[in-house]
Amino acid sequence: MDEKRETLALASDHGGYWMKDFVAFKLREAGYEVKDFGTYSGESVDYPDFIHPLAHAVNEGEYHRGIIMCGSGNGAQMTANKYPHVRAGLCWNVEQALLIRKHNNANILSLPGRYVTFDEAWQMVEVFLNTEFEGGRHTRRVEKIEKIIK
Ligand code: RB5
Repeated sequence: MDEKRETLALASDHGGYWMKDFVAFKLREAGYEVKDFGTYSGESVDYPDFIHPLAHAVNEGEYHRGIIMCGSGNGAQMTANKYPHVRAGLCWNVEQALLIRKHNNANILSLPGRYVTFDEAWQMVEVFLNTEFEGGRHTRRVEKIEKIIK
């Protein structure tokens, strides 16, 4: 796949709105297509209303990767991880962004819109998009994530 033509799914609440706007701009500049699931202003909203549609679409395979944001990144990540084929990782630094790809094969990056700078966010996005899953022993572990005890 030509990575640069991939469509990336983005969503946030008001806490991540400006960061989403910035990341969308940088992604388009880098040659990616962007599907923006909202929110579309800084007005207060409920993060699940925007994260659920994105996570559902990633879960269904409509998008290969997504980037989500809220104030802390927690609510967005918790909502996205309700879907069985979603692996969303909350990242505060580049090393974490590296590890959610290398070790966890994350398909969604969750960012804390109020706690990292736009530059830090973009560095994490670049690492998230350009780091391969290591496989090996991590494949077994990732496969076990879905196997909840009933
Ligand atoms: C909104 O104020 C805030 O609670 C939300 O953006 C997020 O941090 C929730 O986890």
